[in-house]
Amino acid sequence: MVLFMSSSYAVCPDSDLGEVMDEMKTTFKEMRGALEDEDWETIVSMRMEMQKLTAASAEHKPLKLEKIPAEEQSQFLADYQEGLTLLETKLDELEAAETTKDIELAKSIVEDIAKHNKSSHEKFKMKCD
Ligand code: HEM
Repeated sequence: MVLFMSSSYAVCPDSDLGEVMDEMKTTFKEMRGALEDEDWETIVSMRMEMQKLTAASAEHKPLKLEKIPAEEQSQFLADYQEGLTLLETKLDELEAAETTKDIELAKSIVEDIAKHNKSSHEKFKMKCD
């Protein structure tokens, strides 16, 4: 028996991608702290972890896909993969900034990532919280 049906959920359902993203959140937070401390060792290891998590994200599909009309789904998935590729590009830029230990450049790349994260969630995350 269906008691309640809605186009959105009160609470986001759990998903494999959500689990990867939760790890992304703690890793990114630690990265931002390390930037403030100019702790390059931690910046490097968090950047490497984020590269792994970005690759892992590409193995999953967003929950929102089920809300997208069938004829738009392949474009939605292509855009999602493109969003992950942009994150990968930013992480590669950060890797380059590590070699010259350019902290201001590293900070501006990380701010770009934060903006990209926000706009990606607006596009690809199901509205449920
Ligand atoms: C630093 C970068 C990012 C951080 C810190 C981050 C963090 C998060 C967090 C905390 C969640 C909620 C997880 C949950 O439901 O428990 C989430 C969900 C999500 N994120 Fe990200 N994210 C980042 C980048 C991205 C990018 C670049 C994309 C897409 C190109 C993306 C797509 C999504 C999607 C689709 C969900 C919903 C999960 C699902 O549909 O199963 N995120 N993210």
